[in-house]
Amino acid sequence: MTDGSDGAGKVRYGGDYNPEQWPEDVWDADHRLFDAARIDTVTVGVFTWALTQPAPDVYDFSTLDAIVARAAAAGRQVVLATGTAALPPWLARAHPQVNRTDFEGRRHRYGQRHNACPSSPVFRRLSAELARRVARRFAGNPAVVAWHVGNEYGGACYCDQCAAGFRSWLRDRYATLDRLNAAWYTTFWSHRFTDWADIEPPSALTEHWRGPDHTAFPGITLDYLRFMSDAMLANFRDEKAAIRESDPDTPVTTNFMGMYRPIDYHRWAPHLDFASWDNYPPDDDSRVRMALAHDLMRGLKDGQPFWLMEQTPSTTACRDTNPLKRPGLMRLWSWQAVAHGADAVLFFQMRAARGASEKYHGAVIGHSGRSDTRVFREVAGLGAELERLGPATLGARTPARVALLFDWDSWWALEISDGPSRLVRYQPTVLAYYRALWAAGVDVDVLPVTADLSRYDVVVAPVLHMLKGDLARRLEAVAERGGSVVTTFLSGRVDEDDNAFLMDVPGPLGALMGVRVDEWDARGREFVNPVRLGPRDFPARLIFELVIPQGAEVVGTYRADFYAGTPAVTRNAFGAGHGWYVAAGLEQPGVSWVMDQVLDRHGLRGPYPDVPDLETTARVTPDGSRLLFLLNHGPAPVEVPARTGGVDLLTGARVEAGQPLTLDTHGVVVLREDQ
Ligand code: GLA
Ligand code: ZN
Repeated sequence: MTDGSDGAGKVRYGGDYNPEQWPEDVWDADHRLFDAARIDTVTVGVFTWALTQPAPDVYDFSTLDAIVARAAAAGRQVVLATGTAALPPWLARAHPQVNRTDFEGRRHRYGQRHNACPSSPVFRRLSAELARRVARRFAGNPAVVAWHVGNEYGGACYCDQCAAGFRSWLRDRYATLDRLNAAWYTTFWSHRFTDWADIEPPSALTEHWRGPDHTAFPGITLDYLRFMSDAMLANFRDEKAAIRESDPDTPVTTNFMGMYRPIDYHRWAPHLDFASWDNYPPDDDSRVRMALAHDLMRGLKDGQPFWLMEQTPSTTACRDTNPLKRPGLMRLWSWQAVAHGADAVLFFQMRAARGASEKYHGAVIGHSGRSDTRVFREVAGLGAELERLGPATLGARTPARVALLFDWDSWWALEISDGPSRLVRYQPTVLAYYRALWAAGVDVDVLPVTADLSRYDVVVAPVLHMLKGDLARRLEAVAERGGSVVTTFLSGRVDEDDNAFLMDVPGPLGALMGVRVDEWDARGREFVNPVRLGPRDFPARLIFELVIPQGAEVVGTYRADFYAGTPAVTRNAFGAGHGWYVAAGLEQPGVSWVMDQVLDRHGLRGPYPDVPDLETTARVTPDGSRLLFLLNHGPAPVEVPARTGGVDLLTGARVEAGQPLTLDTHGVVVLREDQ
């Protein structure tokens, strides 16, 4: 069981359950309600360090034993946390160096969670020891189906222990100060380092002003981001290794957060046995963003199914305003996760906390313990549906012909750069290109730049600011064999060290794109330069590169300013395929126009590209059946003709080709198409 998909025989259903917070007589009531809602999996122990190790030399498993035993007795499967995500107070008192030092240089005192210094030897020793003891206690327990290490790793620390860790990470990376000085371009502003000990973490006290994105030396800041991500990965690996001492094969994971900037999940992914993530969209309008995040999480383990580890059944609590998920949305978004590759649908939280900061966070069971609530009814309804579905989707893969490259280094390098523009941001740009693909109904694999690209017709690499390794060559290979490669402004600008290429922009992508960028103009949000594409003008904002074709054909031109009439979008014939260069900050309609041209060339379209708000995705099961998911995100019912015959897996009904499929508002159809 390495991909975490089997074992339950169906999509796992349940979530975070913290019964240590209430008396045991409530536990029976909880489990009765779980039965009613077809809950089969609970994640327990995430914040139990202080209970399990109440003092340095005391380990007390009575609470965790009882929780796991009660869940097992009810036939439930358990995702067991190592419990290291929040420190016990005694630990911080005895070892203040486990507390983080913030960007302003303030050593924090005891409080909150997710805030241990990742470089603290004490934290590393004691967190691994707790994981070791929990694993030893529960290894071999048939109820335990996965290990959940830590919780939502993130943030950063700037303490002296981290400074020392940074220096040793740098020694591993560069070996000599000469190489480090070259990488960081330290001759600039007289920074030439002659002693490793002189290197400081880049913070408000050193290289930064106006916060974490404004740095005198992006190379230093970039390496600190990489180091911090690796330091926390080392924490995860400490605990995983400790688990493996007594449990050789139960899968180990930790819960990611989708597009989360501080942690390079691509560097973490090989160390997880399956990927999982927590989906907390900021609003009701995040359907495309959630789809992208699901695809990114699926891409972490080469397309293997992932788990939706947390979502709220109703509301969050941490935002200034916390809108309620409208009736049907929880179900729709749960199916969206499955449509994009989830083999588990789990909630935070199964029963509401009585006190502290999350007492108003939505829960399957509220404070009153009732089952006759809308939320409980919807949760139970989905539970029944998932049970009826059974194993039909388990292990299924997404048959994508389109890859979108996502790269944390490019994200960091772009957003910590002084110039050309602070307004050009990574996520919204990537999202605009993804949105065009989503609307066309094509399946997309969101992949690291190191991925094998040989199986894709189209590779989209928006704002690929940093170009690493042999990627340019591999993109050329995509075009050579007839594929299309799309990239944009501010791509191919810097090498792995964040130093500019000593050649025309877009650097090593120049041959494939058949252009050279001569100048660039970055403007405020209010400034629009329209771009003529086909018969129409499309607005572009923020960034306008001035392009001189070197063989590429001009597809679109600027309409205004001194560069009116010059190329804004180009297409270069390369081998049997094309390199597309989008030099202008096109808004969504222009991005969609370009992507439609690209998809047309390859005949790539979902079954209903013209029905707005209707999302379609496909999955192919291990036995070769093709599943088509139809998700109606719109405010009104839609009806579309079935493209093929098949079986509606949620109703069991037979569907004939051409027969109308009716989707209510927020409705879902899962069609197993005839082969
Ligand atoms: C995160 C955490 C949980 C909880 C929820 C609340 O996902 O992992 O412990 O705080 O947020 O939304
Ligand atoms: Zn630290």
